[in-house]
Amino acid sequence: MSKTYKIATIPGDGTGPEVVKEAMKVLKAAAAKGGFKLEFTEFDFGGLRYLKTGETLPDSAIGEFRKFDAMFLGAIGHPEVKPGILETGILLKIRFALDQYINLRPVKLYPNVETPLKDKGPEHIDFVVIRENTGGIYTGHGGATRVGTTEEIATQLMVYDRRTVDRCLKYAFELKKKRNALNAKYAAKPITLIHKRNVLTHCGDLWYRAFEEMGGKQYPELKRDYNHVDAANMWFVKNPEWFDVAVTENLFGDIITDLGAMIQGGLGVASGGNINPEGVSMFEPMGGSAPKYAGQNVINPMAAIGAAMMMLDSLGEPKSSQAIESAMIATMKKMKSQAAGKMGMSTTEVGDMVAGML
Ligand code: IPM
Ligand code: MN
Repeated sequence: MSKTYKIATIPGDGTGPEVVKEAMKVLKAAAAKGGFKLEFTEFDFGGLRYLKTGETLPDSAIGEFRKFDAMFLGAIGHPEVKPGILETGILLKIRFALDQYINLRPVKLYPNVETPLKDKGPEHIDFVVIRENTGGIYTGHGGATRVGTTEEIATQLMVYDRRTVDRCLKYAFELKKKRNALNAKYAAKPITLIHKRNVLTHCGDLWYRAFEEMGGKQYPELKRDYNHVDAANMWFVKNPEWFDVAVTENLFGDIITDLGAMIQGGLGVASGGNINPEGVSMFEPMGGSAPKYAGQNVINPMAAIGAAMMMLDSLGEPKSSQAIESAMIATMKKMKSQAAGKMGMSTTEVGDMVAGML
């Protein structure tokens, strides 16, 4: 009997629905070829629903999501909604409630994709960032007093406990082990912890000691390295080939993964996963809702297709995941650019081509 995976989709706002449609097209083709089934259930959460009903994401939705094997998100964001409402009310709420404690961000430059880095090619840019996804400043500890006065005070604390750090490091070391077994090129490189322990002498120290202890005791065969986050920014640009698996805390990860997205060819191709290795994970293109391109059939669906590829790998269908990657690479070779409106193809044509190559 063939396996059926239940997928919750949240197409969301702007170009979200367009790219989700193409990713689903590719997923259906991959399923037909790979001998498994996918059952999609759509949820209408996002800016439009919020503007109509005042509701971001009810608690009952979290219970619903738990019944799925994975989730697929398009984009959340609406120009008429004040910043922060949809981000905390929908995206962060899902991450926290489903304990998606890993944000996995492959930074891989594919052939024929343009990078702004001079003299760098696919052989230089092929690593993953593991961003801790539930702790740090994102926990919302802190507050504001005397607001609006000249004595106003605001705090937002970087909060970490050992368990949260350890489970993230565990994921990173395991992934590093897997990548080393896959490819000698990866095995030659270290796993890199990124933090700011010269200044963040408490949080940075916690991460560093946990990294050294776990690495030394459980993974002595893996080379370890450490970068301050400001320096890591420089190396991402100057020597991206130094990196294979980089692991970091939440806010630093947020910042460096946008830099990662740019060096791999931009938001048109950057995909990510919000992963709970023991629970329900959610996959998404990094591009956002891009309202100015919405409804024109010009947005690049490649990032969403890449998220679909990641989702199949996480569901335990690595062969189908690799087949999608090969089809993506072949399609990218036929595209003029990965930028919206400049692809030399429409959104739907890109989706058709990837699906067709499966
Ligand atoms: C990301 C986004 C989110 C974050 C925002 C939308 C809350 O920037 O996924 O990187 O800061 O994590
Ligand atoms: Mn971000």
